[in-house]
Amino acid sequence: MRKANTQTPCSETNNPSPSSALIYTARAENNNGFFRDILQLYVSEGSAIADLTWGRGKFWDGIDQSKYELIRLDKYTPCDVNADFRAVPLADASRDAVIFDPPYVTRMSFKARTKGNPAGSNQKDAFGVNATGPKNEREIDELYAAGTAEARRILKRGGILILKTMDTQRWRHIELANLPGFKLIDLFVVVTKGLPPGKAYAQKHARKNHSYFMIFQKLRRAV
Ligand SMILES: C[S@@+](CC[C@H](N)C(=O)[O-])C[C@H]1O[C@@H](n2cnc3c(N)ncnc32)[C@H](O)[C@@H]1O
Repeated sequence: MRKANTQTPCSETNNPSPSSALIYTARAENNNGFFRDILQLYVSEGSAIADLTWGRGKFWDGIDQSKYELIRLDKYTPCDVNADFRAVPLADASRDAVIFDPPYVTRMSFKARTKGNPAGSNQKDAFGVNATGPKNEREIDELYAAGTAEARRILKRGGILILKTMDTQRWRHIELANLPGFKLIDLFVVVTKGLPPGKAYAQKHARKNHSYFMIFQKLRRAV
């Protein structure tokens, strides 16, 4: 089994794409399109991967999972191991790459997908309209802190953390940029395809129509 390309993450040798198919940081694309690019750049085939927030496995749509030693975890959805990402049942330094896409909105700010709001979500469990989700920003902070600490524990030296997030009332991607024990090595801006529908209203701020994949490499030092 080959290890993740953790020593030279930006090496051209790990990206055989011709120049006409270079990978760029931002575009209007589904998550799985970016995720495919991220695996190509940073995670070699055969790598040991843990997806801590499997959900419905949407990141992996169209990707041959058999090329990796993949373990799918989630506390609430069907997967290999139902586990809380704050206490992951995997050994220290056992994974080349970890994927972490925790709930990032509170119960209060969740907007369900309806005819009148097609931009909403149908992932109740993920976003906390039921009793499982975070009630406030402090609880979201705690999920990020505990989950990324577990990701660091189970990653091998130089391992890769693929973290998905979105800015809300908080500039979360800025807050996360200096994640303890990691170096941010890439940042992808996932622009929502099309414009989010909505009635005109008196705006105070620009409406956000993008999210992020943040790519971190585990550092030797914990802070
Ligand atoms: C944004 S969704 C992930 C979506 C997933 N990346 C996909 O492609 O389908 C967040 C996921 O975190 C899970 N989750 C929430 N709290 C959790 C916890 N404490 N431990 C483990 N999983 C949790 C939810 O069940 C949900 O599937």
